Amino acid sequence: MLNLILFGPPGSGKGTQAEKLIDKYNLKHISTGNLLRSEVSAQTQLGIEAKKFMDAGELVPDEVVIGMISNALDEHSNSVKGFIFDGFPRTVAQAEALDKLLTEKSLSISKVLSLHVSEDELVDRLLKRAKDSGRADDNEETIRNRMKVYREKTSVVADYYADQVKLADIVGEGSIEDISASICKQIDA
Ligand code: AP5
Repeated sequence: MLNLILFGPPGSGKGTQAEKLIDKYNLKHISTGNLLRSEVSAQTQLGIEAKKFMDAGELVPDEVVIGMISNALDEHSNSVKGFIFDGFPRTVAQAEALDKLLTEKSLSISKVLSLHVSEDELVDRLLKRAKDSGRADDNEETIRNRMKVYREKTSVVADYYADQVKLADIVGEGSIEDISASICKQIDA
């Protein structure tokens, strides 16, 4: 199985690039952001609790997102050629939990594709997306807080995978097609 993580700060293009990879490699896309937004739309108890964190640009508690990932793995691991994790893991505790869940299924992460984009470009992209997305990060204050949370809690996850020699750095600025080609080159290497 090919199990990939698309890693990077908010707005670095994880969702955009995941869409390009799912058909090419026949993978199941698991985005914790999308799963959480579905819960918010359906006004489930989980969604109502998660919304408070999402609106503030904070991370939803680890146990909530780990539970969602565990359910998704149980649902799909016999029916797909692999997974693309997008927006997960975002803390070292989540990365450790993912390794544990995968090991229980005799699976492992194949590669972590880390997208690098400057903060000014990220803010610019997210403000543009906010105009018609209805996303919670529709103002510069929330977006800047998401960047801060990324620097403080999420960026260390790259070191976790570098230690496992699974991290591949990708230039995340430029055309979507060129970035996709760089990602595919890393996957096929
Ligand atoms: P989530 O939805 O996961 O946010 P994210 O990971 O930051 O992802 P985004 O969708 O904001 O950005 P992206 O990197 O996917 O970029 P995209 O392709 O959309 O999470 C939302 C919230 O949920 C979090 O704040 C948190 O509260 C909670 N959450 C989620 N997962 C969690 C977890 N594991 N633990 C705890 N809490 C969690 O692109 C962005 C824009 O840029 C788009 O408009 C796109 O068209 C454009 N774009 C893409 N590529 C390019 C390019 N090359 N050039 C120009 N524009 C581009």
